[in-house]
Amino acid sequence: MMSSSESEDKGPSRRPKDTKFKQQKLPAWQPIMTAGTVLPVFFAIGIAFVPLGVALLITADNVQEKIIPYTHCKPVAGTAASSHDTCAEYISNNTGATCQCHINFSLKEDFRGDVYMYYGLTNFYQNHRRYVKSRNDNQLRGVKQSKSTDDCDPFYMTENDTTRYYYAPCGAIANSMFNDTLKLNFVSHATLVSVGLLKKDIAWTTDRTIKFKNPEGKTLKEAFKGTIKPVNWQKAVYELDPDDDSNNGYQNEDLIVWMRTAALPNFRKLYRRVNHTEQFVEGLPKGNYTLLVDYNYPVVGFDGEKKMIPDDDILAGREEPVPWHRVLGRRQPLHTPGHHLPHRPHPSRQEVSLSSRFFTAT
Ligand SMILES: *[C@@H]1O[C@H](CO)[C@@H](O)[C@H](O)[C@H]1NC(C)=O
Ligand SMILES: *[C@@H]1O[C@H](CO)[C@@H](O)[C@H](O)[C@H]1NC(C)=O
Ligand SMILES: *[C@@H]1O[C@H](CO)[C@@H](O)[C@H](O)[C@H]1NC(C)=O
Ligand SMILES: *[C@@H]1O[C@H](CO)[C@@H](O)[C@H](O)[C@H]1NC(C)=O
Ligand SMILES: *[C@@H]1O[C@H](CO)[C@@H](O)[C@H](O)[C@H]1NC(C)=O
Ligand SMILES: *[C@@H]1O[C@H](CO)[C@@H](O)[C@H](O)[C@H]1NC(C)=O
Repeated sequence: MMSSSESEDKGPSRRPKDTKFKQQKLPAWQPIMTAGTVLPVFFAIGIAFVPLGVALLITADNVQEKIIPYTHCKPVAGTAASSHDTCAEYISNNTGATCQCHINFSLKEDFRGDVYMYYGLTNFYQNHRRYVKSRNDNQLRGVKQSKSTDDCDPFYMTENDTTRYYYAPCGAIANSMFNDTLKLNFVSHATLVSVGLLKKDIAWTTDRTIKFKNPEGKTLKEAFKGTIKPVNWQKAVYELDPDDDSNNGYQNEDLIVWMRTAALPNFRKLYRRVNHTEQFVEGLPKGNYTLLVDYNYPVVGFDGEKKMIPDDDILAGREEPVPWHRVLGRRQPLHTPGHHLPHRPHPSRQEVSLSSRFFTAT
């Protein structure tokens, strides 16, 4: 088989080497699948996973979760918004305004261990094809503006007669950042005790230390010279946390958490960790609480709803239960607040829910 006069005529031979691999002569095993061989294997694998399932069920049963919807909360009396029925209505008519609302809720049982607080949004398509790309990772890593950031368009730069300003951070994801402020009070013997909430160590470590860095500069403000805040923001990126420089600019953890886009339309993101001191050393005691909301994030435009969820599970994960008929059934148009990508499909019913969720790690 090896020699043939033809190949000698045509310069270098293209015949593969006579190795077992190249000649496809490696020994092969071709099992014959029969019910008798396949079924036992399936059952064995199935049985092997039973303990895992039991463990997950038990963990899920130990979860304490409390959902507190606040989409349609009523403004606090005596504020500018109090002439309106709901905060949602107020901010839909006053763009960029803040509406305060308070919600009383009670925990029927102690939430023991580390307690975390989440906000949740439903039907918010952070996974939209063009939304997901609308960011510039070099910029977020502190590299000074380069020219190749048109992924961010139309939130890339703006110019007037004289100067060109780059959005910092650029893109639709950053522009639509969640901006409600949530605080928590505990009613202890008829007095209000505020629950300490920690805003650091809520993002992934790799994001915090590698992916997000501020540009160089004497002060943060100087480092961001030549940039302008995103269209929807009320303050610049270097003012996100005026109290703590290590949590400011691109290194602000609320920003980092938001920039890690959710894969599913109903998601929860970590908002705060409870500072376990004084009467909260053990967790959150049962009793009455008030959730104090600075309501900024508009939802009425999409018939939205917000809620808050105190919860205590670590394995149940970050996603709300999936409405599979929607995921599989039809393509969802993109409706995120202030998202002005040019191709905007006709409106469909959208919900935004805000949930804060507490869970205690076991
Ligand atoms: C809000 O604005 C809409 C139209 O822009 C108007 O119909 C409605 O009356 C306003 N609501 C209030 C409470 O001002
Ligand atoms: C909050 O975010 C929304 C949507 O991006 C924006 O319209 C609003 O101006 C923001 N408000 C504040 C106070 O940042
Ligand atoms: C919530 O509870 C406080 C007392 O802890 C009470 O003063 C307030 O009116 C309640 N607010 C609502 C909206 O029920
Ligand atoms: C250009 O826009 C910036 C930011 O909005 C503003 O500070 C500046 O005064 C403007 N310059 C002119 C010439 O309009
Ligand atoms: C947690 O609370 C304690 C007591 O109030 C306080 O001293 C401490 O600074 C808080 N921790 C943080 C990180 O804020
Ligand atoms: C919580 O509030 C309810 C009514 O708002 C009241 O009946 C109950 O006694 C309160 N519980 C505590 C522990 O303060």
